[in-house]
Amino acid sequence: MTLVIWAEGRLVGSDEAALSAVDHGITVGDGVFETCTVLDGRVFALTRHLARLARSARGLGLEAPDEQKVRDGVAAVLAAATHEAGAMAPESHSARSPWPRNERSPIAGLKTTSYAENVVALADAKAKGADESILPNTVGALCEGTGSNVFVERGGELLTPHLESGCLAGITRALVLEWGAEAGLPVREAALDELPFSVLDDVTAGRAQLALTSSGRNVQPVTWLDGAPVAAGEITLAVREVFEKNCRERLDP
Ligand SMILES: Cc1ncc(COP(=O)(O)O)c(C=O)c1O
Repeated sequence: MTLVIWAEGRLVGSDEAALSAVDHGITVGDGVFETCTVLDGRVFALTRHLARLARSARGLGLEAPDEQKVRDGVAAVLAAATHEAGAMAPESHSARSPWPRNERSPIAGLKTTSYAENVVALADAKAKGADESILPNTVGALCEGTGSNVFVERGGELLTPHLESGCLAGITRALVLEWGAEAGLPVREAALDELPFSVLDDVTAGRAQLALTSSGRNVQPVTWLDGAPVAAGEITLAVREVFEKNCRERLDP
């Protein structure tokens, strides 16, 4: 993979200094970021990603970035990049995180560069043979993954934790809810107390199924949880089909 970097209005080499070593975002991590999927050389859902970038910045007390400037940067990067079609992994192996997400944190729900907690939780999952760590929040509710949202398939429905659980308002999560409903599938946001973290016991017992969503994963069934093989859910697979079809037809939903 070739790395293409754009900073402050120009493309810079990967070995070139582009930020000051005392930039506040570097020293303390009060920065914001987005990760987008590129489909056929074009960014998927860029308008939603830019809106969230601005929301995250405002949540940190930072001025929102100049949207046109970021769009110009994205265009410059895409023009300079070679587009290799990277396949998304079709499924995930997940492990429960020993640490909770603090849903009362002032940065809960913001996509900030203060991601060290996520890095540590993900490393824990990797050490257990998984590729994602699933976090509770401080009151024992199911929350999200380190870089993904979670969905639970149970009782003929596909449910995702309420945003007040402290999870990020994932763009894939929102589109799964919107496009799933549009396709007549039983997908909805759960009530705040509807998905305790212990629902993962139902997953390992085969009474429920788990799925992850993110820009890097799309819709991914979890097929292994804490060492136990678990089955993909039928609604999950149907939603994945709808999502993958729609994202090719609606580039900036
Ligand atoms: C903590 C966290 N939750 C959820 C997501 C999924 O969000 P999206 O679907 O917008 O990629 C991400 C994305 O990186 C994330 O970092």
